[in-house]
Amino acid sequence: ARQLFLRNPNEPPVVFHLVPFIGSAVAYGMDPYKFFFAMRDKYGDVFTFILLGRRMTVALGPKGNNLILGGKLSQVNAEEAYTHLTTPVFGEGVVYDVPNHVLMEQKRFVKFGLNTENFRAYVGMIEDEWDHFIATEPGFAPYRAGGKDDWGHFDAFEHMSELTILTASRTLQGSEVRAQMDKSFAHLYMDLDGGFTPINFMFPNLPLPSYRRRDKAQKAMSDFYLSILQKRREKASAEVEYDMLAALMNQSYKDGRPLGDREIAHIMIALLMAGQHTSSATISWCLLHIAHRQDVQDALYKEQVERFSTPDGSLRSPTYEELKDLPVLDSIIRETLRIHPPLHSLMRKVIADIPVPPSLGNASEDKSLIIPKGNFVLAAPCITQVDPGIWKNAFEWEPSRWTDPNSEAAAMYKEYTETGEKVDYGFGMISKGTESPYQPFGSGRHRCIGEQFAYVQLGTILSLMVRTLELKIDKVPPHNYTTMITTPQKPREISFRKRQL
Ligand code: HEM
Repeated sequence: ARQLFLRNPNEPPVVFHLVPFIGSAVAYGMDPYKFFFAMRDKYGDVFTFILLGRRMTVALGPKGNNLILGGKLSQVNAEEAYTHLTTPVFGEGVVYDVPNHVLMEQKRFVKFGLNTENFRAYVGMIEDEWDHFIATEPGFAPYRAGGKDDWGHFDAFEHMSELTILTASRTLQGSEVRAQMDKSFAHLYMDLDGGFTPINFMFPNLPLPSYRRRDKAQKAMSDFYLSILQKRREKASAEVEYDMLAALMNQSYKDGRPLGDREIAHIMIALLMAGQHTSSATISWCLLHIAHRQDVQDALYKEQVERFSTPDGSLRSPTYEELKDLPVLDSIIRETLRIHPPLHSLMRKVIADIPVPPSLGNASEDKSLIIPKGNFVLAAPCITQVDPGIWKNAFEWEPSRWTDPNSEAAAMYKEYTETGEKVDYGFGMISKGTESPYQPFGSGRHRCIGEQFAYVQLGTILSLMVRTLELKIDKVPPHNYTTMITTPQKPREISFRKRQL
């Protein structure tokens, strides 16, 4: 067995640690940013740390992002890094339970459902959900009272999680799921989510009740989707459905095999889990920041008034196309994802030795480093996103960096758009693919396909919220890294009142 302490001179330096198996789990788990920056100072851009017996090789910087996220299929493998966490939750036959070429086809099926026509329909659906939410949610009673002294408070993350799952189920998941959201489906979701935590990632099988609840919920949810599919097939109504089930129902793999109902069910669960915390955390951080920065909140409101005022003084609904063309809104989401990308670590298993290019990391020390087969590699674009060597006032949330034509961000964005690589609005990337310093949605073959859907959801909710409410908070809370994705630490109560005109 390889010594966990000793460094092979041809391999990246190993972070010093006292307890063999645990290694750096505590320092990494408590604050990955602090850990990565400190280790970069000590060891350079490429180093290995021990995480509960696994050897994790980190490659930082734009070239590190590229090494891992642009890695060859023959060298890096996502399935082996993630399947023990995801397959019990999503179910079999999808995502990381299948070879990469099958995942690629499944992503293509999903993209088919994430189309402009559907997005156009979603804006109005999300608006309906928001109207219903603000009219009925007990925490928003002060809004309904409506006076200038009627201030209330809401927990930024909990309330936004609730709103996110309602809007996602109304749109992507379909009317049957939405109808059950106030009932059985919500419980299944809670149990499933209770099995999608860092503990489950570290310890795939523990004899704990939460693991049993996870497995039971997975099966029940999978069966629920199956029954929806069967009913839809029997009904075969002419009604146009804009949801993902409709898009997946008639898909076939390249070899002619139709996408099975079980696979559809499990893809639906995967999408639910992939979109829920990422979107709800991002909207929470956006709200926390605009509650803290009144000037930005005012600018966001002003943009809505300028673009959507009607002659009678009310604000009309945005269309999908209009939503994409709101620079202040765009800069707020973009900047929030720079400072608070929901996923701080993207991992792969090394299945064949990877040579580290001399341009990366510790080149001067040793030109022929290799990352050996059997290690894991970890990309952390979250670090290039706040690297003071790349960004001015790197740790400050300052959306205007995206709209100021003289800023470093605008220069990178310009370079990107001029290379013609911009897809639609290319919200998550500002320069060439896998080497981009800014990639909250990842890059390469595992890049997110939910980006545009997330933007429709975030953009619509933020627009409607700033029209309806005035928000205030004294300080933006720090990150909590003990959750699967980076969430705001408690307390995270935002004060609000009905917007006074
Ligand atoms: C992949 C971020 C929303 C579905 C990813 C990856 C990142 C990411 C960083 C790459 C993972 C890796 O390389 O290991 C985000 C963020 C979101 C978001 C920041 C919202 C703000 C969504 C939504 C959906 C979704 C709404 C579904 C509708 C997926 C899928 C993958 C993915 C299917 C591909 C996984 C793979 O190919 O291995 N996302 N995501 N995401 N995301 Fe998202």
